[in-house]
Amino acid sequence: MANKGKVKVGIIGSGFEADIHAESFHIYPAEAEVVAVASPTPGNAEKLARKYSISNVYTDYRQMLAQKDIEMVTITAPNYLHCQMTVDIARAGKHVVCEKPLCMTLEEADEMIDVCQRQGMLLMYAEELFFTPKYLKAKEMAGQGAFGKVYLVKQSEKHFGPHAAWFWDVEKSGGGVYMDMGCHGVAFVYWFLDRPRLKSVTCQMGTYVHNAVTRGEDNILCILEFENGALGLVEDSWARRGGMDDRIEVYGDQGVTYANLHMGNALQTYSENGYGYAVEKAPSTQGWSYPVFDELWNYGLPQEMAHFARCVRGKEQLIASGEDGRWVQEVLLAGYQSAGSGCKVHMPFRPSGVKKPVDLWFNPLP
Ligand SMILES: NC(=O)c1ccc[n+]([C@@H]2O[C@H](COP(=O)([O-])OP(=O)(O)OC[C@H]3O[C@@H](n4cnc5c(N)ncnc54)[C@H](O)[C@@H]3O)[C@@H](O)[C@H]2O)c1
Repeated sequence: MANKGKVKVGIIGSGFEADIHAESFHIYPAEAEVVAVASPTPGNAEKLARKYSISNVYTDYRQMLAQKDIEMVTITAPNYLHCQMTVDIARAGKHVVCEKPLCMTLEEADEMIDVCQRQGMLLMYAEELFFTPKYLKAKEMAGQGAFGKVYLVKQSEKHFGPHAAWFWDVEKSGGGVYMDMGCHGVAFVYWFLDRPRLKSVTCQMGTYVHNAVTRGEDNILCILEFENGALGLVEDSWARRGGMDDRIEVYGDQGVTYANLHMGNALQTYSENGYGYAVEKAPSTQGWSYPVFDELWNYGLPQEMAHFARCVRGKEQLIASGEDGRWVQEVLLAGYQSAGSGCKVHMPFRPSGVKKPVDLWFNPLP
């Protein structure tokens, strides 16, 4: 395999996130080239391949792993498949980029980290909030003392629910919006505060709007209490109308900052006729709307994929790792346990034999 030039990439999946990965690599053509895509539904991978001029198409990802020139594989398949895919990719001698959340259980997280270490492959955790320019600016300002001693970091992400059926099926997703978007907020506050030790997790959740389609939760509030005294507050919803909303707030004893990723960057627009596209999951473009521009770049997704390619070439040190994903996984488990039991959960929290995180909400441990 070449150890210079563009990193050759294979993508598993051809849905929503696969398109984002393919476009992200296109935005940084000097770093990487997508040479293959694998997805089981006939026709879907071909469609993505045509859109991004990808030369090789497979319906079974294991066949793609036999393609010798591929050096890095990105996983954009449903959550319950992440662990097995990571094991297969690492054993095939390729580096792994795994979409969030890392997996379903701590046992899976350990296995993913172990197999990549043993095979000498990188396990890169696709958490784009570590690369979001507006949020990076807030972190840089915090590092310069802008807010004094930071005592509270909030992150929230809200829309009216996911685009694909498997997200609503807790057997495949592992849980509802806490699993799907809480993983972003939990990772964000940890990263923003420079990865302090966590003391406790307290979480409230419910299914307020989407009872007919899921057993999973569609609205959550989660408090993280760190040993250094700082707090994280994560707020997520699949029940919020009006398209994607993503924002942070940072409070310190000397200052504060608020960053609204979408509406805060958008064109404030009124249209009788509507137009093409406003923002992820927006139901309409008629009336008042907030069309974003450079959506992927504003989220940091191309920067994230370019970083992963540079890590494969040894040009950069990995800043979003399998260990970060494992840490998040433990907090997800603790949050479901807290919501199920009605109690604060003290860390570390390492339950064994839990099949999927949401089970701890349905049947909390005594
Ligand atoms: N970072 C982010 O902000 C972000 C956003 C959306 C999704 N995601 C994550 O990306 C992953 C995929 O989500 P999505 O929104 O693209 O879902 P999706 O339903 O749009 O796409 C899933 C893809 O996986 C494929 N797939 C299913 N079973 C497979 C198998 N056995 N082998 C190979 N491919 C298989 C499907 O055919 C489909 O192409 C999830 O883990 C999700 O949490 C991350």
